Amino acid sequence: MTVKPIVLQDLPADLERERLPRHVAVIMDGNGRWAKLQGLPRMMGHRRGVDALKDLLRCCKDWGIEALTAYAFSTENWSRPLQEVDFLMTLFERMLGRELREMVQENVQIQFAGNLKALPRSLQGAIAESVAATQNNRGIRFTVAMNYSGRQEILQATRAIAHQVQQGLIQPDEIDEAVFERHLYTAGVCDPDLLIRTSGEMRISNFLLWQMAYAEIYITETLWPDFDRAEFHRALCAYQQRERRFGRV
Ligand code: FPP
Repeated sequence: MTVKPIVLQDLPADLERERLPRHVAVIMDGNGRWAKLQGLPRMMGHRRGVDALKDLLRCCKDWGIEALTAYAFSTENWSRPLQEVDFLMTLFERMLGRELREMVQENVQIQFAGNLKALPRSLQGAIAESVAATQNNRGIRFTVAMNYSGRQEILQATRAIAHQVQQGLIQPDEIDEAVFERHLYTAGVCDPDLLIRTSGEMRISNFLLWQMAYAEIYITETLWPDFDRAEFHRALCAYQQRERRFGRV
């Protein structure tokens, strides 16, 4: 008897569509450890990590999730060995080039969060091209955090608002959460409802510090390259079992 592989193409029946997270954020940890366990160079882990991310994006789209944000490179990641940083920059650029046509076709709207000016020029070009080519898409909103720091994001928003105060465009008392959010990289995207972090690490590592105020956190021991639809299904089941109180009793 041949066993049919389970392809979770449609939303699994045990998940309630109305209670899905609107926005999922992921910290894709464990690429290096995955590669080491396979006896491969770390870079192979990152390559497989890209495949896992692509599949998660498609899965979010298939299951009706509105937004996915992925932590691709933090401001702290520059302190990795130069060879690995170079590899990652090239990998990001290649992925954007290779996947752009499909993202346009699949109605993905891509955007970036982070200080992009410090990235290699050719990567900045690929980023600008992908943003422009998908800006009219109204399907899933895919945010890639690149050269990102949550603290830096809050600081740059504060600076921008301070300039507006200085120019008399806004009064200090008018600064509320809505004004602040308009100055974040993620302006216009709802806050993440669910943060998934792989490889068992229990930190948020300077990721979306403002936006994550009420996110449910799901940690799995699975290493990022092994994070597949079945894993995502488990994360969503756990999410749907949580009671979100937002500070209420
Ligand atoms: C963490 O694993 C992973 C990264 C720092 C890079 C993540 C990037 C990708 C998966 C590619 C995504 C591509 C785009 C364009 C969004 P690690 O190296 O920290 O693994 P370790 O903790 O096992 O050493």
